[in-house]
Amino acid sequence: ERGGFQHFMQKEIHEQPKAIRDTLTGRLDEDLQSVALPELSWTDESLQAIDRIHIVACGTSWHAGLVGKDAIEKIAKIPVEVDVASEYRYRDPLVTPNTLVIVITQSGETADTLAALRDSKQKGLRVLAITNVVGSSAAREADDVLITWAGPEIAVASTKAYTTQLVTLYLLAAYLGQARGTLSSDAKAEVLGALAGLPTVAEQVLDAAPRIERFAKDYQEARDTFFIGRGLDYAVSLEGALKLKEISYIHAEAYAAGELKHGTLALITDGVPVIALATQTHLYEKTLSNIKEVKARDAFVLGLTWAGDEELKKSVDEVIYLPRTSPVVAPIVAVIPLQLLAYYAAVVRGNDVDKPRNLAKSVTVE
Ligand code: F6R
Repeated sequence: ERGGFQHFMQKEIHEQPKAIRDTLTGRLDEDLQSVALPELSWTDESLQAIDRIHIVACGTSWHAGLVGKDAIEKIAKIPVEVDVASEYRYRDPLVTPNTLVIVITQSGETADTLAALRDSKQKGLRVLAITNVVGSSAAREADDVLITWAGPEIAVASTKAYTTQLVTLYLLAAYLGQARGTLSSDAKAEVLGALAGLPTVAEQVLDAAPRIERFAKDYQEARDTFFIGRGLDYAVSLEGALKLKEISYIHAEAYAAGELKHGTLALITDGVPVIALATQTHLYEKTLSNIKEVKARDAFVLGLTWAGDEELKKSVDEVIYLPRTSPVVAPIVAVIPLQLLAYYAAVVRGNDVDKPRNLAKSVTVE
């Protein structure tokens, strides 16, 4: 049932090229001119009327929401807020009658996310659920549903559900952008072209597995690690740190790279592993200077950037090169080495990878 893999998590990481392809199928037309989401019941009028979006989710799905905000704001020009469901429920969010609430939940059964869905419906708001489980509570109760076609995810640590959530959010952003006329033809070519290329790119990133396994072995005794990046790289850093914590039990913190000097640099000392993401071209120089700050304190830095980059390797100890694609969809590519890092760190430490301590696959209590 694990298809020759040692653990479900490993299998699910390797299934991502297929999962991404399945999520795109039927939604991206062949000549990459448009996105179709026929499952949405929105009229053109209601679609034009959306004046803000609230994304609500927990854990890894919340991390997907952070990327979704960036995509929707950039591509569809609608203001988006992203909240952790257990906070959203109790903070009395400011909504308008035309606020669209998007709940993201792999299982479709997370208690706090469902409560946010129900509260929003009670307020008369339109709710869209992005879920991986057809027939789940979220799928049944939301006004509209987009299924992430990742297939069943068994390992507690979410991997292919996250990347397919991202694909779905990009599709949604492009769909909204095309309907509202905010998606220029250049941006369309960039985003839709990058999405279409993702299954191949994801396949290529998986080739980094042996190097990451070696890195995980060398650093299995680490007590603290840091993940740093700016912009979308920061959102992916949060996900990388969560993954490492939940299955390897190594303490990890994600930091917006520019924020380090406001306190956290005090923790960066000789040999502390820092995983530095530098995929955002417009932020590259700024990130590089933050990487130099941690190097100056003798951190051990593993950098992630695009293939062909000649600069980063001069400032870090090791580099993982990502196959080139648009920085807009970088999170889907960059997260894969971080999933592998968490996986191998958990394996070398002898942990129960698929069932980490204290965690459940579906959190049905508040
Ligand atoms: C982490 C993880 C959790 C879930 C969270 C929400 O790897 O899997 O953080 O993402 O419990 O679950 P869903 O998406 O089912 O609502």
